[in-house]
Amino acid sequence: MDRSKTKLPLCGSCLGFKVGGWERDSVPDCSLFSCRPVQGFCFPFLTPSGRRSYASEIDQIGSKAVLVTGCDSGFGFSLAKHLHSKGFIVFAGCLFKDQGQAGSQELDNMKSERMRTIQLNVCNSQEIEQAVEQMGASLKDPEKGLWGLVNNAGISTFGEVEFTSLETYKEVAEVNLWGTIRTTKAFLPLIRRAKGRVVNISSMMGRMGSPARSSYCITKFGVEAFSDCLRHEMHPQGVKICVVEPGNFIGATNLYTPERIKAIAEKMWKELPETVRKDYGRKYLDEQITKMESYCNSGSPDTSPVINSITHALTSSSPYTRYHPMDYYWWLRVQIMTHLPAAISDRIYIY
Ligand SMILES: NC(=O)c1ccc[n+]([C@@H]2O[C@H](COP(=O)([O-])OP(=O)(O)OC[C@H]3O[C@@H](n4cnc5c(N)ncnc54)[C@H](OP(=O)(O)O)[C@@H]3O)[C@@H](O)[C@H]2O)c1
Repeated sequence: MDRSKTKLPLCGSCLGFKVGGWERDSVPDCSLFSCRPVQGFCFPFLTPSGRRSYASEIDQIGSKAVLVTGCDSGFGFSLAKHLHSKGFIVFAGCLFKDQGQAGSQELDNMKSERMRTIQLNVCNSQEIEQAVEQMGASLKDPEKGLWGLVNNAGISTFGEVEFTSLETYKEVAEVNLWGTIRTTKAFLPLIRRAKGRVVNISSMMGRMGSPARSSYCITKFGVEAFSDCLRHEMHPQGVKICVVEPGNFIGATNLYTPERIKAIAEKMWKELPETVRKDYGRKYLDEQITKMESYCNSGSPDTSPVINSITHALTSSSPYTRYHPMDYYWWLRVQIMTHLPAAISDRIYIY
């Protein structure tokens, strides 16, 4: 059967899940809306994949500079290389450039004038100020500003509210939320000058809560709110603010490793108040560790939907406000959790 000519009443993109045995890349057109999900142009607000139309790209990428935070590994590292390959001048912020971490070294080893690694801890105001100065000085025409800022640096952890110390909440927020706000505020004057873009990496966990993820969720919900307010404020200035909400790509990045999950759990258990430890019991914690391990193992190993979404946000003349690079299972779950009454969605996914 020639599947490319098959018409379904509704395609996978419209329904938001994998149809029959068809893979995402080969889901046939739908007859109702005549949409082509493969090109990612089927009702963009319904299209869960990271595929986007590049019909109208911005001009002269070559003269434009972008800063990406958190480039030592994961999305940041791949994105820095990808944007460089598209012709951008890339400032790659690395947490441990000063300690010669492998990621920043590999970017330096590209020996390209357009790939410039900089020491940048988003929790350190002094390092941020230095980066603003250093970048401002090295821009060809500082008056034309900086085209893009990608707030990607982030950390994560897990644990029920009763298992999570206040210090842990603050630690995660310091990087994910205050780090994003601190960096954005520092670079906005340069971005405004270029009428450029701010792309904030949130998460599907910035749209829906999940058991044992509160310390991470609150930071990403904060990033979403910050981005919405900033988008409204920046509209008259010609600056566009986009949010990218990746699903589960943990297998492809360094956000969690099996060793890190175990270390987090052991530390949590050791620091738990005696009552909580007794009430929940060690068996409960072990079950949570297993759940977390299986969540991490089920992530997509291919980060290209995330990288393509960020690239679209930086290069399209009309970028989307929100991008949802995630598989169909998570896309549908986000839609149900955010659109249906909690009494229904909680019963489907939580209880
Ligand atoms: N992977 C996923 O499934 C997923 C899903 C949704 C959202 N996200 C978000 O995507 C972003 C990137 O994460 P990732 O998955 O690529 O994980 P990752 O591989 O751990 O990358 C995060 C990067 O941020 C850096 N970083 C941590 N603290 C920093 C700080 N204070 N200042 C500057 N950089 C810092 C890390 O440096 P070191 O490596 O040196 O620690 C690392 O290079 C995060 O915001 C994360 O929340 C990821």
